Amino acid sequence: MHDTPSPLRVEHDVLHILDQTALPFERREVKIETARQAAHAIASMQVRGAPLIGAVGAFGLALALREAANDDALAAARDMLAATRPTAVNLSWALARVARRVLPLPEAARGEAAWREAMALCDEDRAANLAIGRHTLALIRTLAQAGRRVDLMTHCNAGWLATTGWGTALAGIYLAHQAGMDVHVWVSETRPRNQGLLTAWELAEAGIAHTLIADNAAGLLMQQGRVDAVVIGADRIAANGDTANKVGSYLKALAARESQIPFWVAAPWSTIDLACANGGSIPIELRADEELCILRGMDGMVRQLQPEHDVHNPAFDITPAHLIDALITETGVVRCRAGETPVTDRSGA
Ligand code: MRU
Repeated sequence: MHDTPSPLRVEHDVLHILDQTALPFERREVKIETARQAAHAIASMQVRGAPLIGAVGAFGLALALREAANDDALAAARDMLAATRPTAVNLSWALARVARRVLPLPEAARGEAAWREAMALCDEDRAANLAIGRHTLALIRTLAQAGRRVDLMTHCNAGWLATTGWGTALAGIYLAHQAGMDVHVWVSETRPRNQGLLTAWELAEAGIAHTLIADNAAGLLMQQGRVDAVVIGADRIAANGDTANKVGSYLKALAARESQIPFWVAAPWSTIDLACANGGSIPIELRADEELCILRGMDGMVRQLQPEHDVHNPAFDITPAHLIDALITETGVVRCRAGETPVTDRSGA
């Protein structure tokens, strides 16, 4: 089994992240030495993707505890990091996990214990994603017909860049490619932040056939029978299977159902929030107007709309569980459309 690239690395106890705001044009690393720098990296989307912001949040809390480790300092750092992005539950999940680990300890031991917990969380994330990949590969194999390539569609970026390794939606695609299967990926641009370009970059690095499309071309391709399955990641999954993911996911799920194409969500258990009964209680992040009004590219920024216009920029949407054929976790596949929910799957795992 090949290893996976990762968007973060720890060297001599220092965290380095790949700055995703510079990709796909430039590969640039940034050193994260304080909790404030970790919070900035998450809020500005130098790091992004639900599992990755959880991991960087955990390191951020450990960095805060190296400076001050009393209960008040811990609570303040945790709140500051949690406030950066509200939708992906992995962030608050990771912060809670680190806090639970260190609270019973004397102050002097907390920084080191928190750092070790953050490292463990990364190892577990990679293992979970590899397991998700294996379950996804089994599903992809069911689509393969002799002599014909498998055409998958994805949205946003749920590859290794969005996690600590392997990715979620892309993990099975990497494994299918490594297994010698003929796979091709339709990659939607994902306006306004264009995370689809990150997916295209990842797939190109791995030598996997892919085609970039405008978001609005997805329905046509499904209607034309050129897509065998849609596979996306998730930022928060409610107890009934309703799924928050990058805005535009819901429209793809609707088009997939209309064209009778399987729609899969791949995510680790750290993305499932059993405290949310359904998608209605998942907070949707609203991001800055500028993301829509300014285009960012290799040659800098271009303003495409004057600031006097009203702009509404929700970063995520909710795909109802009944539109999801398979929810692929590290413990197996939940058939949401058939009425299964994550709650029943976990108790059976
Ligand atoms: O706003 P982003 O880029 O952080 O949103 C990321 C997504 O919506 C991903 O699809 C999701 O986090 C899954 S990442 C494995």
